[in-house]
Amino acid sequence: MEILPRQATEPVDQRKGAPMNQVEIMEFVNKNPAFSLATCADNVPHVRMMAVAFADSRGIIFSTGRDKDVCKQIRANPRIEMCFYCVKDEIQLRIAATAVETDDVQLKKDIVEKFDFLKPWIDAEGYDILATFRIKDAAVTTWTMAEGDKPKEYVSLTNL
Ligand SMILES: Cc1cc2nc3c(=O)[nH]c(=O)nc-3n(C[C@H](O)[C@H](O)[C@H](O)COP(=O)(O)O)c2cc1C
Repeated sequence: MEILPRQATEPVDQRKGAPMNQVEIMEFVNKNPAFSLATCADNVPHVRMMAVAFADSRGIIFSTGRDKDVCKQIRANPRIEMCFYCVKDEIQLRIAATAVETDDVQLKKDIVEKFDFLKPWIDAEGYDILATFRIKDAAVTTWTMAEGDKPKEYVSLTNL
């Protein structure tokens, strides 16, 4: 039997058994932008909630404050893991990756435009206070309530 590639428009819950493809992963991240971000510096793990700013042709982008612990930890060790969860579909999606800091001022402007609560802070401190990261070498694995005992499969995000 020929196995056809799954279409990105097929609802995720009709694809039980197959890992998400790269388009579906980007869609999932856009629909569920809040994630737990794990860092590890000096062999000590840390985790906290973050939000993806953009997941599109610019890559998967998040930002934080230059003076926050999370920023210092990523600078010390850029290997991170991001953990997303969709309550409705009961899907957990994890991205293990390397965070790459970017000083693209236009990207920072786009972030401040999107998250306008940042504006007073940026007006007071300037764009340098905002640390912006994109990810590379990303390996993605999902877990669902329905298929909890399934062996892990990893999908590389090759366009980042
Ligand atoms: C849903 C959610 C999204 C968040 N998104 C961000 C974010 O994108 N960037 C950020 O710096 N802090 C964000 N925070 C706040 C951080 O979790 C908080 O500042 C945390 O203390 C940073 O980690 P650290 O203490 O290790 O530096 C978010 C919090 C929540 C609950």
